[in-house]
Amino acid sequence: MPKVRIRFPENFLWGAASSAYQTEGNNINADWWVWEHSEKRKRALKGHQNPYDQYICGVGTDFYNRYEEDFSLAAHLSHNAVRFGVEWSRIEPMQGKFDQKVLDHYEKILQSAKANGLQVFLTLHHFTLPTWLAKRGGFTTKAGIQFYLRYAEIVVKRLGQYVDFWLTFNEPEVYATHSYLLGIFPPQQKNLLSAWRVVNNIIAAHNLISPKIKYITAKPVSMAFHLADLQPTGLLGSLARSFSHYLANEYILRRTINACDFVGVNYYEHFHVSILGRRKSSHSGHESTDLGWSIHPEGIERVLLNVQKYNKPIYITENGLADHKDVKREKFIKDHLYYVHEAIKKGANVRGYLHWSLTDNFEWQHGYWPRFGLIEIDRENMLRRKARYSALMYAQICKDNYFDYEVK
Ligand code: BGC
Repeated sequence: MPKVRIRFPENFLWGAASSAYQTEGNNINADWWVWEHSEKRKRALKGHQNPYDQYICGVGTDFYNRYEEDFSLAAHLSHNAVRFGVEWSRIEPMQGKFDQKVLDHYEKILQSAKANGLQVFLTLHHFTLPTWLAKRGGFTTKAGIQFYLRYAEIVVKRLGQYVDFWLTFNEPEVYATHSYLLGIFPPQQKNLLSAWRVVNNIIAAHNLISPKIKYITAKPVSMAFHLADLQPTGLLGSLARSFSHYLANEYILRRTINACDFVGVNYYEHFHVSILGRRKSSHSGHESTDLGWSIHPEGIERVLLNVQKYNKPIYITENGLADHKDVKREKFIKDHLYYVHEAIKKGANVRGYLHWSLTDNFEWQHGYWPRFGLIEIDRENMLRRKARYSALMYAQICKDNYFDYEVK
């Protein structure tokens, strides 16, 4: 098979992403923590093996204490960037009470990232809420916007000097649908109006905080947008696809793009859309991840070319797979990077790639069994970190800024 050299633009950012709740551990004031320990959740997990070890976040990966080890591993793996988050429920455990010790600790975490030569993408909200705010309805009310603005401004003023790229929110569409429409994430509502309010209040919060962040830190701001590759199928497929694409991929983006300096792209999914709805494509020999998501690297090219119309720099803020045996990750990364490069050749201004995730972590309602990490976490053995084979291969790409790819 002939090989072609895939070379990325100069100063391309290479690294991995994670979130606060999924890694830090012991975020006891978060709505997720309370939900995980609720009777309802315990009842739902009855019959599962070791539900406590498997489905309760607990100590996480202990990133809150082991950040230095993780950043140093990332640096050894030739990463020059990292994405992680701060946890609102830790910073403001009670309404209006901001914990200065926690902010001091986050300063140490950020200093450590910088000392390891990593450019920092910092996420301010990634699916969780402080319990006090969840009780007041979170982002279903306009008050949620004001609480977010106050929290975000405090974080930005205190920690801004260490942050290179801001992500105000992670995937508002996923957050709103999973928490308020599909009943998967806490508070497990199934209420279209609530989901709609959450989406629109988050849009408003982003549009209000973005100019403030720019004013305080002069650093670029965006969100991590969940962008799926949707392809039409069947009679009236194009119409159905346009509608679905608008709601899933464009609605939030269009309303926040003027307050975004770049576009953060999270790419995982490809669906076929017909008038009967979305479905994962099961045909055409595509492989699946351990979570059963079919792997469609070519979709990332379409997603990137679609957002190029906004004429902003693009950073891939998440892309990855659950693969506990680490048998698909190397090919997954190379195939996706090939199509990222195809998009760049056609004009997409892509400037960085952050793989999800740096280490295995708490995969929300699925718990710990899906393994997304470049670095394995041994939960039986004091959370020992060990770079997977694919991490070493990815490290070579990060180091060289190119790789040789076998084109079929
Ligand atoms: C979320 C992550 C999650 C990943 C894999 C993304 O949509 O931002 O928190 O772990 O998908 O499911």
